[in-house]
Amino acid sequence: MRVFKSIYSCAGVLSLVLAGGVTVSAQDAPDIGPKSPVMVKNMESHIGNLTGYAAAAKSDYRRYCAGCHGEYGDANGENAQWIDPKPRDFTIATFKCRSTLTGTLPTDQDLYNSIGRGFTNSNMPIWNTLSPQQRANLVAYIKIFSPRWEKEKAGDPIKIPAETPVTLESIAHGKALFTKLECWKCHGPHGEGDGPSASTLTDSKDQPIRPYNFALGKDDSRFKCGNTNQDIYKIFMTGVDGTPMPSFADVIQPNDAWDLVHFLRTLQVHRHSKENDILLAAHGVIPPYVDKTPAPATAPADNKSPSGGH
Ligand code: HEC
Ligand code: HEC
Repeated sequence: MRVFKSIYSCAGVLSLVLAGGVTVSAQDAPDIGPKSPVMVKNMESHIGNLTGYAAAAKSDYRRYCAGCHGEYGDANGENAQWIDPKPRDFTIATFKCRSTLTGTLPTDQDLYNSIGRGFTNSNMPIWNTLSPQQRANLVAYIKIFSPRWEKEKAGDPIKIPAETPVTLESIAHGKALFTKLECWKCHGPHGEGDGPSASTLTDSKDQPIRPYNFALGKDDSRFKCGNTNQDIYKIFMTGVDGTPMPSFADVIQPNDAWDLVHFLRTLQVHRHSKENDILLAAHGVIPPYVDKTPAPATAPADNKSPSGGH
């Protein structure tokens, strides 16, 4: 927190006089008011061979980003009031698109990808007209707004096993998971974003938020955090932080997660996909899933030994 330290170091000069006439030294004073936009911390980002420098992004940030994300990164840009969903508030360092577990910071690569990809169904533009170096610099710049970046390391990217084959059985198992894990309560039984809880959801800033409607869109339909099967896998294993969309990393086994991905693709009814071809060949009917893993043998009564046997 170099910025604050440098303010506190002149605490003797900076004493605040409250309305009642009580004088409080800056040391005890709460952190009120904008952060100095002038001091740009010496943040860096590392994306492949690229190194981004915050100081080099200052004018780009002002020109291209501040109108929404705010000069101080607090999502209070002059356009923010007209926008739904709201721009990201960089002062809390909570990000939707991560390859890392819920609650952790994203990698520089994650942020870089988000900037170049833009956010579908939102006002966040696609910034691929900026050069890779400019985007890397902006990643570093985003990190000056929250002290979390100085205290914490980015999370480790989750491991994604090779995709399992797309089969009718895989789709059927995915459907069973969608039911069991109650995805439908928010996303609706047909993935149309109209489950029983859908209308009650708010994000961490108390803004109403809608679950994703899988049925909208055609071949161009994509998700906020990418459009490949791997990207979908990541979304529900890492969660969409700052929204009610939870992480399921603790409850879904890695290979089962692929079955869920395959089922989710069939909810995109207007999209051409391998999953939809297979479903079409089955006349659109997903058979009930039969669990073939052997049930745990029920031990005969005389064999039972709660202490683990002797
Ligand atoms: C027209 C408004 C607008 C402008 C201009 C804009 N953004 Fe955004 N940005 C948004 C909105 C809205 C979101 C949130 C989208 C959502 O939550 O679905 C967002 C989200 C983000 C995120 C969040 C990624 C995540 O995983 O949560 C990053 C990073 C970001 N913007 C960077 C930038 C950068 C860098 C610039 C300038 C080059 C920029 N934005 C310009 C509106 C804007
Ligand atoms: C408590 C409600 C809730 C539950 C339960 C839930 N979701 Fe979500 N989900 C959401 C919300 C809200 C969003 C939208 C987040 C956003 O727009 O930023 C979302 C977004 C998504 C997205 C990303 C869409 C995009 O725009 O990128 C996918 C994929 C997804 N959910 C899959 C699932 C799966 C699979 C399950 C069950 C294993 C599930 N969800 C359970 C509320 C929920």
